[in-house]
Amino acid sequence: MCSTVTPAQRILAKVRSLVLVSAGGFGAFSALSIYNENEDFYDNIFMPLVRKLDPETSHNLAIAACKYKLFPKSRFVDPSSLQTKVLGMDFENPLGIAAGFDKQAEAAQTLRNIGFGFVEIGSVTPLPQTGQEKPRVFRLEESEALINRMGFNSDGHEVVHQRLVYLRNSEAGKNFKLGVNLGKNKTSDDALADYSKGVELFSDVADYLVVNVSSPNTAGLRDLQEEKQLKNLLSTLIRVRNSLPPEKRKPLLVKISPDLTVDQRKQIADVVTDKWCRVDGLICSNTTTARPSELKGPHVEEAGGLSGRPLKMPSNELISDMYKLTKGAIPIIGVGGVSSGLDAYNKILSGASLIQIYTTFAYHGPPRVTRIKRELDEHLKMNGWKSVAEAVGKGVSR
Ligand SMILES: Cc1cc2nc3c(=O)[nH]c(=O)nc-3n(C[C@H](O)[C@H](O)[C@H](O)COP(=O)(O)O)c2cc1C
Repeated sequence: MCSTVTPAQRILAKVRSLVLVSAGGFGAFSALSIYNENEDFYDNIFMPLVRKLDPETSHNLAIAACKYKLFPKSRFVDPSSLQTKVLGMDFENPLGIAAGFDKQAEAAQTLRNIGFGFVEIGSVTPLPQTGQEKPRVFRLEESEALINRMGFNSDGHEVVHQRLVYLRNSEAGKNFKLGVNLGKNKTSDDALADYSKGVELFSDVADYLVVNVSSPNTAGLRDLQEEKQLKNLLSTLIRVRNSLPPEKRKPLLVKISPDLTVDQRKQIADVVTDKWCRVDGLICSNTTTARPSELKGPHVEEAGGLSGRPLKMPSNELISDMYKLTKGAIPIIGVGGVSSGLDAYNKILSGASLIQIYTTFAYHGPPRVTRIKRELDEHLKMNGWKSVAEAVGKGVSR
């Protein structure tokens, strides 16, 4: 039986094949652009599309893409100027992904492949908890900032630890630097016990551990930065750490808030340089509850911690204050508002030995990692420094 094709059907078939060819072409173009770390593609096509989704959904998609290794390995070779030794460890480059991006340890290997010199997992709480109600992350696009009040959504110690054991047992997981950032459960009234459990449990898989006492989204957490409480907390955790077998005694760092007063900064410097509470490093800084007057967008008044560009200067000030107050004796990881090599360089001049990013990565995607590293290398060379270590703190007047 012979069927006749009507002109309408012929047109429909043509349109269908045109759509298929275009979609295929766009798909191939996208894949090639992602493979080539094409910044224009990310900034003008891919990330604007991602921003059509709400921030938490796009974050979950990014984690899924990392988990299923959809981002290719960066082909950028870290220049020797970026190699650095901090906390007794060798880093191929000083740029890490900050806590909060891979809270549940699902994306670490891909983040390493993208080119991060180290990955910080967490914050992890002892028991699983869901965090605050959604929506809890907001974009302030004009200011290239985020406000979040996640409230430590965590799969809990056991699950996250298992994932890291699995990772460490794989060939790829052996050879990269990994920090674990510890939090406390919302309903726990024993912060000391929560952090102690974290130090004991994660010491076999982490290269360093972070005591996060500066998240603004867990009631009372930032009070742990107060002198007496901090002394008690750190001296206990150091005792716990030192009671472990030598191979499990990992560097302990404290992550602090950019909202600390001058007096609080001095007190913290005194505590962390005290013989019994001496930590191995500081992370400056967490997000801020301040809302600078130049901040724009419909979400400015949302409660939570502000990150990204508006945090850059407050974070730099905290870094240089802590560098001065501790006389450069405690290594600092600088984080807050870095989105270029110059930003990273300025944090190093302010006293940071390592750098972390989060918000700029959420806005620009993987090519930003390569850009920051390439530009940082240029700034070091332009200013006559052979290495990151040489430049640390050189912008701080003593
Ligand atoms: C959505 C989101 C979640 C975060 N979660 C955590 C966290 O669980 N623990 C923590 O110590 N910091 C957390 N942070 C803070 C970041 O680690 C970092 O200190 C801060 O965002 C400043 O860096 P940035 O300006 O490059 O984003 C979070 C930040 C964001 C944006």
